[in-house]
Amino acid sequence: MVVKEMKRPQSLAMTEEHDMLLAAVRDFAQREIVPIAAEYDESGDFPLETVRKMGALGLMGIEVPEEYGGAGLDTLAHVLTMIEIAKADASHSTILSVNNSLYCNGILWFGTGAQKREWIRPVASGVEIGAYSLTEPMSGSDAGNMASRAVLNEARSHYIINGRKSWVTSAPFADRIVLFTRTSPDDGRRGITCFLIDTSQPGFSRGKTEPKLGIRASATSEIIFDNYACPVENVLGGVGQGFKIAMTVLDAGRIGIAAQALGIAEAAYEAALHYARERHAFGAPIGSYQMIQQKIADMKTRIEAGRALIYQAISAKERAMAAGTRYTTEASMAKLFCSEAAAYVTDEALQIHGGMGYSKEMPIERYYRDARITRIYEGTSEIQRMVIARNELGLR
Ligand code: CAA
Repeated sequence: MVVKEMKRPQSLAMTEEHDMLLAAVRDFAQREIVPIAAEYDESGDFPLETVRKMGALGLMGIEVPEEYGGAGLDTLAHVLTMIEIAKADASHSTILSVNNSLYCNGILWFGTGAQKREWIRPVASGVEIGAYSLTEPMSGSDAGNMASRAVLNEARSHYIINGRKSWVTSAPFADRIVLFTRTSPDDGRRGITCFLIDTSQPGFSRGKTEPKLGIRASATSEIIFDNYACPVENVLGGVGQGFKIAMTVLDAGRIGIAAQALGIAEAAYEAALHYARERHAFGAPIGSYQMIQQKIADMKTRIEAGRALIYQAISAKERAMAAGTRYTTEASMAKLFCSEAAAYVTDEALQIHGGMGYSKEMPIERYYRDARITRIYEGTSEIQRMVIARNELGLR
């Protein structure tokens, strides 16, 4: 049963630690990422060097306790980081998000002590790259309907995994992957188990890398398992618990994607504001005209409404984690609203820039393309609406 959270207005207190983090991330993003973002978007190359630097700054395991190689900070710190990195370049924030939310959280919340020690530290410290693999060619939104299989061998020492997974963010460079696959053909969602995968082992290979519209510097590919032998010790959270783990982890991930969308929207908004002040038409700055002012007002309002929903989701998460309940609705609302706000804001920012917005000489067209994915991955807008409505109606 979904336990409803008490609704109340939220304002999150920024501590001195948050201020220091924000200043450091903003400085890093402006110095190291902004200058290379357009070039990596164009080439589609993976920005390994700056990803390693994000690791050295502690950004690849923000909420991971220091004993497992992370920064030991909270969800607000994670969100502030995501917004700043996404403002500089959405591709970097995608890599950061998967590493932090989808890889580290699952092991932190469901792993044994030994699994946490072995599997989190290299990824949270940014030495290695982590990924999360749920989707398959024939199961995207209907995530429980997967066809890949893991079968226990006769010695009961290993699961032999076979099948194909698709749309795996960071897979071309991932050292370790949190994988969801079917261990029982008959038990529906309860027949899915989560495995910790070392990509250097035989039986693992990568398929085609997706040529994408946006977030082009974040590498996405298929992965293929051909009699991959996974030790039984690498089952995460127990046999048959995979679907719940996948969904629990996605709740947190969706707050991160909401923050990413907000960061992209803020970048586009700030560029539009600057352009509206500088660009003259009919003898005056275009910002002096009411049609542009209406756009600015609506863009700003949606950005701040999105931020409020993210902050509400953070508070709901903190309360739910302490009480052992869920914050699914709040996370989905934040992701739904912010991703749609990012689409609106980047589109209007492009419109304000006119022809220049359509040119690769300015970053607006990149923001416009990058924003598009936030309505698709980690659950489409349609899935978020379904999740919110089902929870509100008390349906399953
Ligand atoms: N937290 C914990 N448990 C949850 C949960 C949640 N948020 N949501 C569902 N569950 C549990 C249910 O309680 C239920 O448990 P029991 O069987 O014990 O009763 C079980 O999971 C099945 O739940 P549902 O019947 O609701 O499942 P469903 O099949 O109807 O699907 C869904 C629900 C919400 C549509 C889900 O399939 C979904 O979220 N789909 C979208 C998948 C998605 O986001 N994919 C993106 C993958 S990651 C990515 O984008 C790539 C990347 O690398 C960034």
